[in-house]
Amino acid sequence: CGIVGYVGSREAAVVLLDGLARLEYRGYDSAGLALVHRRKVTVRRTAGRVEDLRDLLGENPPRGRTGIAHTRWATHGEPSDRNAHPHTDTSGRIAVVHNGIIENADALRSALTARGVALASDTDSEVLPHLVAEALEAGAGSLAEAVRAALAQVEGTYGLVVLDARAPDELVVARNGSPIVLGLGDGEMVVASDLAAVVRHTRQVVFLDDGELVTVRADGIEGSTRIAPTTVDADTGDYALGGHPDFLAKEIAEQPDAVRRALAGRLDTRFATTRLGGLELDPRDLRGVRRVLFLGCGSAYYAGEIGAGLVEELARIPAAAEPAGEFRYRNPVVDPDCLYVAVSQSGETADTLASVQELRRKGGRVIGAVNVIGSAIARECGNGIFLHSGPEVSVASTKAVTNMAVSFAMLAVLLGRVRDLSVADGRRLVEGLQSLPGHIAEILERDGEIAEIAKRHAGASSMFFVGRTRCRPVAREGAQKLKEISYIHAEAYPASELKHGPLALVTPEMPSVVLVPDDELLAKNVGTIEQIRARGGPVVAVTDAELPDGLADDVLRVPRTEPELAPILLAVPLQLFARHLAVALGRDVDKPRNLAKSVTVE
Ligand code: G6P
Repeated sequence: CGIVGYVGSREAAVVLLDGLARLEYRGYDSAGLALVHRRKVTVRRTAGRVEDLRDLLGENPPRGRTGIAHTRWATHGEPSDRNAHPHTDTSGRIAVVHNGIIENADALRSALTARGVALASDTDSEVLPHLVAEALEAGAGSLAEAVRAALAQVEGTYGLVVLDARAPDELVVARNGSPIVLGLGDGEMVVASDLAAVVRHTRQVVFLDDGELVTVRADGIEGSTRIAPTTVDADTGDYALGGHPDFLAKEIAEQPDAVRRALAGRLDTRFATTRLGGLELDPRDLRGVRRVLFLGCGSAYYAGEIGAGLVEELARIPAAAEPAGEFRYRNPVVDPDCLYVAVSQSGETADTLASVQELRRKGGRVIGAVNVIGSAIARECGNGIFLHSGPEVSVASTKAVTNMAVSFAMLAVLLGRVRDLSVADGRRLVEGLQSLPGHIAEILERDGEIAEIAKRHAGASSMFFVGRTRCRPVAREGAQKLKEISYIHAEAYPASELKHGPLALVTPEMPSVVLVPDDELLAKNVGTIEQIRARGGPVVAVTDAELPDGLADDVLRVPRTEPELAPILLAVPLQLFARHLAVALGRDVDKPRNLAKSVTVE
C-alpha cells in the first residue's frame, strides 16, 4: 500500500493526489484522503484507483493545508469504499492511514465493540483511530502521546500517519516494520511510504527507523533523537514515463544502462575477477563458504535460482534457491558455513525480511542483494550487493531481475576465482559481463519483431515455457511474467520433464516457448522442439544458436555470449514477449490485477 501525508502552506489535496499517483504501483484496490480545515476533518475515499478518487473529488477538492492519503492493496476486508483508508474514530476527529498488519486486530475490535464503539469497516487498521481517540479522551497530553498509548496496545507491523482535527498543523507518524520516509521541504513536509512521492518536492529526507514516532510540522520534526537527514539523488525522471507508453516498457528499455551501473567499478580485468566491496568478505572468508542459499519471493526467487546455477557451475560450491516465505517457517537448519543471500528489489518484502531476521537470530551469515538503498532488508543485512537498477515502478520486475542475475554472476566469479576457476575462464567471463549491456541493447532493437510474434499468440489460453539446466529458471521467470501481466495461464517445465506428463497437453492450441541456448545441450533442446512439433504444438524458440530452418514456428534471437551468461540475455526477449502479449490483450501492464509491487505483509 502507499501512504502520503502533507503539512505546509499549499492546498494539501493537490500534493496528496500527485503523491498517490506515484505510489499507486504499491497497491490500487482503493484510494482515499483526509484533510483538516477549520478544525474539521473531511474524508473522501473510494474503491478503485487514484483516478477514481480524483473523479470523486472533481473540480473542488476539500480544502486544507494538512492531510493524509492512502492507496490500498487489500489484506483484511474486500476492496470497497468502507474498507478504504483513511479510517476515522466515531466522532470524526482522528483520521489514520496505515500500512502493515495489526495481528491482534480481532481482539482489539471485540474490546472496542464491548466498550460501545461502533466499527465502520472490516479492516484491522480501523482500530487505530478509535484507540487514539480513546487515549485523547483519557487525558493524553498531545496527539503524539495518544498515538503512543494506542500503539502500546497493538501487535503487528505498521507505517502510519495520524491526523487530528484539533491539532491542524501537525501529523503524527510512526513506523514498525513498514517503511516511512519524511521529506523536508521549504516550509513544508511530505511524509510517504516510499521516496517516489517525495522526490518531486525535496531531496532532503529522513528514513524513520522501526520504533520511532515523530510529530511533523511545516517547520520541523519533533520526537526522535536518531534522526539525521540525508540527501537522496533520485531523479524525478525516474518516476516519469519520459515518452514510453508504460513503466514496464521504460524499465525494459533501461536495462543496458542499469547493467552498466551494476558492473561499474566491480570488474577487475587485471586479476580476471570481480570486486564486491559491499560483501565485506576477504578471500579467506570467501574460501570458507561451503554452500550458498538464495532466498527471495516471486521474480527475486527465480533470479536466485539463476544465481544458484552460476555459483555452482563457476565456483563448484553447492548452491540452491528457496522461496523466502517457505524458508522462514520450516525451522531451517542454519549452517555457519553457508552464505545466505536475501534477494529483493524493494528490500521490504515481509517474507524475505523475516528470513533475514531468522538467520541473524540463529547466527547465519546473510548478505543482501537489494535495489533500494536504506530499505529494511538492506539495513538488516548490513553487507551485500546493491543492484543499482534505479527505481522500478512497474509491478512486474525486469531491470531489477536482470541486475540480480548480473550481480550473482559477479558473485559466482568472485567465489570461483578464490577456488578453481582459471584465470582464462575468469577473463572470459569478465569480458562476457562487459559486453552484456551492448548485447541487451541489440535485443531491444528487435522489439517490433517480438511484438509481431507475441500478437500471433494472443489467442492462447495457456502456454508452456521450457528450458533445461541453466535456462530452467529463465523459463520459470518467463512464465511468471506472462501470467502476471497478461493473465494467460503459463507453466514452466524442464525440457526433460515434458515427456513425463505435460506433453499430454500439447495441441495446436497450446504454444510452447522453448529456450535453446547454444551450449552442450543444443541437440537435446532441438529434440525437445521436435517432440512438441510432432504433436502439433506451436513453438517459439528463444535462442542464441543457429537453428535449422523451419525447426520452430517463430524464433526470438539473441546475440551469442558466454554460455554461463546466456540465461541473462535469454530472459530479455521473454519480458518483451509478455509485455506485447499483455498490451495486445488490453491489459494494464504496470498494474496487474490483485498484485502489488512490494508485499510488506505476509
Ligand atoms: C511482489 C511483486 C513481484 C516481486 C516480488 C518480490 O510479488 O509483484 O514482482 O518479484 O514481490 O519483491 P522484491 O521487492 O522482494 O524483489
